[in-house]
Order: sequence, then structure tokens, then C-alpha cells
Amino acid sequence: MGKKNISTATSIAGVELDSYVCNASGPKCTTYEELTELGRSDSSAIVMKSATILPREGNPEPRLARVGKHGLVQSMGLPNLGYEKYVGFSKKLTKFGKRIIGSIAGFSFEEYVVMVKAFQKSDVDLIEINVSCPNIEGKSLIGRDFGQLRDLLTLTSGLGTKPIGLKLPQYDDPAHWFTVAELVLEYGVSFITCINSIGNTLVIDPWTRKTVTSKNGLAGLSGETIMPIALANVRAFYELLGGKVSIFGVGGVIDGVSAFQFLLAGADAVQVGTAFELNDASCFTYINKGLIHMLEYHGFSSVEEAKGQLLYI
Ligand code: SIN
Repeated sequence: MGKKNISTATSIAGVELDSYVCNASGPKCTTYEELTELGRSDSSAIVMKSATILPREGNPEPRLARVGKHGLVQSMGLPNLGYEKYVGFSKKLTKFGKRIIGSIAGFSFEEYVVMVKAFQKSDVDLIEINVSCPNIEGKSLIGRDFGQLRDLLTLTSGLGTKPIGLKLPQYDDPAHWFTVAELVLEYGVSFITCINSIGNTLVIDPWTRKTVTSKNGLAGLSGETIMPIALANVRAFYELLGGKVSIFGVGGVIDGVSAFQFLLAGADAVQVGTAFELNDASCFTYINKGLIHMLEYHGFSSVEEAKGQLLYI
């Protein structure tokens, strides 16, 4: 019997993606050259680094260190070229014929509004509002302050027709999942991205007795070890949002098996951060092929068929 031709094509907020796998805002998506490399890769979208109003150098080095085989801690501090550059890049990147996702991280509500308006007029297909960057000293996470989150949504929804999503921190209290889901539905947020790296973790080198990154060693943990937390967040929102809002799963996708686990939890697509940082752009091809094998193994003919099909024991 010949093999079925399984595609992992999917969509986020009505925007079609050629495959289930794309990059996450963060690693290797800051400069035009890096974004061009993503354009040439099998990532189904070009997701840009979170932009701020002005260009930023970010936190002092060292700000990235490996944890185990498939993990990282990083305290980058939003190094980026400033939003105007990314608005400009979006036009040039259309030549790759794939979806472009702008990402923004403001230091005030006014800054978020300025950037949302600018990206609404740009060539991006989706706008991801980052309310969860853990690496800025003195700035609390809007994603964890539900009053501020409501104010931000009040100001940024209705500024244009491009779908807007939220990149969320992890929550581990069901009451928080419930509150955020209610806000997402109330304000018509089109998609959510779960989860950002887990902030303010500490790695200690036992031989030097030193921290491994700047900023007192406090850094965002990402990769394989955070996957159970990411899966729980995806699943909680999948159930609470009832399929009305698309979900990007992110946090520990390293192969087709982990992408399949996010699909079972209910993610509409996955973003790959740490595995791309630690490898190269071939990771998108590898993960997508592995996902096709997993779909074949379980007898599914599309991602749509498998989405959310987690079984409880
Ligand atoms: C950073 O640049 O600090 C990482 C961005 C993020 O985690 O949102």
C-alpha cells in the first residue's frame, strides 16, 4: 500500500501556514540577514524579534548559556533594531512568499499603541504582542497583571484589521488561565502564543562557583525542560477557548514527537526557539518530517484531524 501524502498545513487566525512548524520570536530573527535565512528555510513563517520603539543593545554578555542537551538560559534583554526597521523589512520579506509575523514589546501602553498602528500598516500577516519578556530589570510582566493586560487590550484592539495575538508567560494557577481566557475572548484576541521562557531562573556552575549569565545570573529558561509547563498551558487554553482562538505552542519543540505532543494538547502550530538557537535552520525540516511520521503512525491524515486528540487515562 502506497503512503498517503500527509501535509502539515495549518492556519493561525485564518492565516494559512504551509506547515505546522515555524520559528519563535527570539533566536536568530533580529537582523535582515537572519530574517532572510528564515525566508529561505522550511519555517512556515518568518517571525521577527520582538521590537521596541528604539533600537536596543540588550543586556551585557554573557547572556546565553546551554542547560543540558536541549535547553538554554538567556537574559538577552530585547536586543533589536527598533520597530521602524522591522516594519520596513516586512515589505522586503514578502519576496519569500511566506507568512510574516511582527512582534512588539513596549515599555509603556503608548509605545504598544504606536507599534501596533505601524505594524497594522505594514506587510506582516499577524502581530504578536509580547507581554511576557522576563529579562527587563524593573519592569513587571503585563501578562501577569490582569488589570494592565485589560488596559493594553482596550488600547490595542480595533486599531486595524490584521489579527493580533498575545505572547503569554506561563501560568500554573487554573484561576489565571480562566481570567486570561476571559480577557482573550472579551477583546477578540485572534491568537495566543504559549509560552515565553520561564523567567528569573538561576544556573550555577559548580566548578567556578559562578553564575552563567549577566543580570545576577537570573535568566529565562527555555527548551526541553519547560515542555510539560508549555503543554499544560496550551491544553488549558485549548479547553477554555473552545477552538475560537488559535494557539501557537512554544517551549521545548525539538523533534516531530514533541511537535505531535503540542498538537495533541491542541496547538494549531508550533514555534521553535531553543532548537533553532542550538542547531540551524534545518531543524524546521527535521521537525516537520518527524511530525508527518507521527501522524502516519497514529493514522491521522492531517493536523486538523489530530488537533486536541489527547487521551486521558
Ligand atoms: C529577550 O530578548 O530578553 C527575550 C525576549 C523574550 O523572552 O520575550
